Amino acid sequence: MKELRGKVAAITGAGSGIGRALAENLAQEGCHLALSDINEQGLLETQEMLSPYSVKVTTHTVDVAQREQMERYAEEVISGHGQADMIINNAGVAIVTSVAGVSYEDFEWLMGINFWGVVYGVKAFLPLLQKRPEGHIVNISSINGILTWPNHSPYCSAKFAVKGFTEVLLQEMDGSSIRVSCVHPGGIKTNIARNARFTEAINKKLDQKGTVALFEKITRTTADTAAKTIIQGIKKNKRRIMVGPDAKLMDWLTRLMPVTMVRLMGIGTKMAR
Ligand SMILES: NC(=O)c1ccc[n+]([C@@H]2O[C@H](COP(=O)([O-])OP(=O)(O)OC[C@H]3O[C@@H](n4cnc5c(N)ncnc54)[C@H](O)[C@@H]3O)[C@@H](O)[C@H]2O)c1
Repeated sequence: MKELRGKVAAITGAGSGIGRALAENLAQEGCHLALSDINEQGLLETQEMLSPYSVKVTTHTVDVAQREQMERYAEEVISGHGQADMIINNAGVAIVTSVAGVSYEDFEWLMGINFWGVVYGVKAFLPLLQKRPEGHIVNISSINGILTWPNHSPYCSAKFAVKGFTEVLLQEMDGSSIRVSCVHPGGIKTNIARNARFTEAINKKLDQKGTVALFEKITRTTADTAAKTIIQGIKKNKRRIMVGPDAKLMDWLTRLMPVTMVRLMGIGTKMAR
C-alpha cells in the first residue's frame, strides 16, 4: 500500500509497544485508525498520544482470542469509519516455560492470542478489504517464527504457525487487490517480557526478574524504529519484513546453517543448567 493518507487501518494490541508505535507513525502519515486492545487503559493512553494528529481515531476493547469479539470489531470499524483498508494483527503475549513444565491452560491461552487471534483478524477483515480498491494484511510473527530457542515452545509454535498461515494467504491473494506482509521482529524494547507468564524454565537459575532484566539488556531496537521499519515495508508492499539487525542476522545464519543454529541456540541453556 503505497499511499497511507486517508486510509483506515485497524491495529490489534495498540495499547502498548509496537502496536502503539505503529498507531503514532501511521497517524503521522495521515492514516485514520481503529485501535483495539484487551487493555482499555493502555488503549486510552494511545488515543491521548494521538490528539495532535488530525486523523480520526476510534478505540475498541477487544480480546483477539474471542472470535465473536473480532467479528464485532470489524463491524464497528465499518460503522465508525465506513471502510477498512488495512488490518495489522499485532496483539501478542509470551510465556517462559519448558515443554515439560507448561500447562495446557497456558499453552492454549498463548495459542488463542498469538495464533487464533491472527486467523480471526484475517477472516473478519478480509471481506471488508476486498471491497476496497486495495487492501493490506499485516501479520506480526517474530524471529521466533524462523528460529527456535528453549523455554519458548508455545511462543515459537504460534509464531511459526503465523508464518505458515500468512504465506499461504500470500499465495492465495497473489494477483488480487490484497497485499500481505509477514513481519519478523527481533528483540524490541516493549512490555512483552514484563507481561509474560513465567512457569518453569529448563534453566533453573533463570527466574522472572532475571529474564526481564536480560531482555532489557539485550534488546536494542525501539518500538518506534520497529514501527518505522514495518511501515516502510508496507509502503514497498514487502511480503516479508525483518525488523532489527538481530533478526536480519539470525535469519541469514538460519538459512546458511539451519541444523547448527538450532543446536547453538540451545547451548547457552545447557551450559547454565
Ligand atoms: N518485543 C519483542 O521483542 C517482539 C519480538 C518479536 C515479535 N513481537 C511481537 O510483536 C507483537 C507486539 O508485542 P509488543 O512487543 O509490542 O508487546 P507489548 O506487551 O508491549 O504489547 C502487546 C499488546 O497486546 C495486548 N494484548 C495482549 N493480549 C491481548 C488479547 N487477548 N487481545 C487483545 N490485545 C491483547 C496487550 O494488552 C498489549 O497492549 C506481538 O505479537 C509480539 O509477539 C515482539
